[in-house]
Amino acid sequence: MGQFTTVCTAIPYVNSVPHIGNILTDLCGDVTARYLRMRGENVFFQVGTDENGLKIKEAAENQGREPLEFVAEIAQRFRDIFDATGISYDDFIRTTEPRHIHATQALFTKLQENGHIYLGTYEGWYDVSTETYFREEELVDGKSPDGNEVRWVSEENFFFRLTAFTDRILAHIEANPSFIRPENRKNEVLGFIKQGLRDVCITRKNPGWGIPVPGREDLVVYVWFDAVINYISITGYPEAGWEAKWPARVQWVGKDILTRFHATLWPAMLMGADLPVFDTVVAHGWVLYGGAKMAKSTGNVVRPIELADSLSVRAGISQPIAVDALRHFLTATMSLENDSSFTYEDFDLRYNADLANDIGNALNRSLSMAHRFADGAVPGAEVEPEALEAIAIAKRDFEGAMLEYSIPTASAAAFGLIRWLGKYTDTRAPWALAKNNDPALGSVIRSMLTVVRAAEGLVRPLLPSTADAIAEQLGVSPTERWDSICELPSGNKLNLPQPIFPRLEIEKKPAPVKSAPKPEKSNPMPEATPETKPGPNPSPAADEQITIDDFLKVKLRVARIVEAEPVEGADKLYKLQIVVGEEPRQLVAGIRKSYTPEDLIGRQIVVVANLKPAKLRGVESQGMLLAATDETGAAILLMPDREAPEGATVR
Ligand code: MSP
Repeated sequence: MGQFTTVCTAIPYVNSVPHIGNILTDLCGDVTARYLRMRGENVFFQVGTDENGLKIKEAAENQGREPLEFVAEIAQRFRDIFDATGISYDDFIRTTEPRHIHATQALFTKLQENGHIYLGTYEGWYDVSTETYFREEELVDGKSPDGNEVRWVSEENFFFRLTAFTDRILAHIEANPSFIRPENRKNEVLGFIKQGLRDVCITRKNPGWGIPVPGREDLVVYVWFDAVINYISITGYPEAGWEAKWPARVQWVGKDILTRFHATLWPAMLMGADLPVFDTVVAHGWVLYGGAKMAKSTGNVVRPIELADSLSVRAGISQPIAVDALRHFLTATMSLENDSSFTYEDFDLRYNADLANDIGNALNRSLSMAHRFADGAVPGAEVEPEALEAIAIAKRDFEGAMLEYSIPTASAAAFGLIRWLGKYTDTRAPWALAKNNDPALGSVIRSMLTVVRAAEGLVRPLLPSTADAIAEQLGVSPTERWDSICELPSGNKLNLPQPIFPRLEIEKKPAPVKSAPKPEKSNPMPEATPETKPGPNPSPAADEQITIDDFLKVKLRVARIVEAEPVEGADKLYKLQIVVGEEPRQLVAGIRKSYTPEDLIGRQIVVVANLKPAKLRGVESQGMLLAATDETGAAILLMPDREAPEGATVR
């Protein structure tokens, strides 16, 4: 069986169905597990649900439900959502399962035997919402420090001697610099410990719900004490062989449950039972919604499946691809150090920018050009060194980020490579190489395809369905091993490009028009009047203003120049062949003084697409391009700031 590399995630309460903040913890675990599997590690990825708390019992009762039946239903909802969001867990633990009850009682007994548990009287305040005990002096205006209601508890209970572990925990943190990640959270933990730890009350009067304390049926184990044990009960503790899955390489948690539970109580419990401590605990920040923490208890939530389903309908994409859009949003915008925010608008904008645009262009341009210039197969020529270097840098950055568990940095490395390809394509301009029969064409096409193949491997831990779709279009099997990240055999037949993420039409109310652009008296477009001189533009008089409706009559579109040649007998004019989306057009433009044909071929420009055709020097022009002019009258073409989808509307 060998030793496993175990990846753990905090287990959510089953008081209500999950939101995208809960998914974040599991998604971080999933990206880590997928990455480590690609690195050849024998991964064991744990997930589960936390079911024994008082608040779970109360949530069931509030709905008039039998708690066991209620938790079974919600735990199933979590499992379904994990399955639907691609959380590739190897085992799912529920803390009401016999194996967990058995492990909890065994660890409790072991700690008792080792002298770390004693009987005392607990008097203090209990916050049911976070299942946390507080001292009187910790309350703020009669509430918990988080503002939750608290209730008075006075009971005979067992205590865990956490104070006795203070020095060992501090020494462990010091000796293992990557024990707590990220660094700012480590400082918070150190501050918390140095304030003085307290022994922890680890039982409660048995309310008919929870794990009974061995030998004391009138008490149940405090829910946090049992919940953290899930990480070893899932390995089979205390039965033979459980050590193959322990200690965990990494435990993912949200920042709210790091200090008191995962960085102090849990390691102390392991130390007290003479068990090895996990390598690293990583805390991520919260997902905020409407400026506040997204939370089941307040109902301030966005639900993952609803979000993916709605995107799937709006964009006309399959559910797994829509799930990847959600995975992308969360992994790209999350932060270990800080909180991040969700808004529907940002979600759509990111979809269009990173997925529809960046991934779309990379795939579309490389495959289209391979079909146009290389018979739809991977050319045998060498990959250009600059492409190999860009891949190596992205891979190195991704690996470095994952060593620190910084998933957003890893995501940025993968998408950085995808964007690099856009610039490389513009610079190497395969269409120009083809026109000039340049022998570098094969290398350039192969380089483009190889970068796409590398991107497929790099995005795989983050966006597994997208990676499959990219591999499918490249006509290759998925990249399984990190070492083979850019392998693409020459001669391999490529499929035709298909948009994986069609662009979303984002409904935006037009901003109120304060002052419309001044309509030039003379035509500013150089192809018609190249001699137009620029000058200061005074504010338009009211009777010269146009309405937004007037403006929208002009259909501006992004086009690509595919050919440029001089118009005979007219030293300022070029005849340009362009494509607007898929539609070929011919333009005549007075930009010859400012640009060579090589400057132009392959570039994207903005054109007026619904202009009545006109003849200039006997040559038909089916539209007009947009350009400014400088003080000498030379044209300055307007070009999209970055690669736009072919034929995109300009407003
Ligand atoms: N049951 C405990 C964890 C026990 S682990 C031994 C718990 N459950 S929870 O349902 O409240 O949270 C589950 C996970 O989701 C935790 O990692 C928590 O930090 C995370 N999040 C809950 N709300 C969150 C956000 N709004 N944003 C990001 N993560 C958040 O805590």
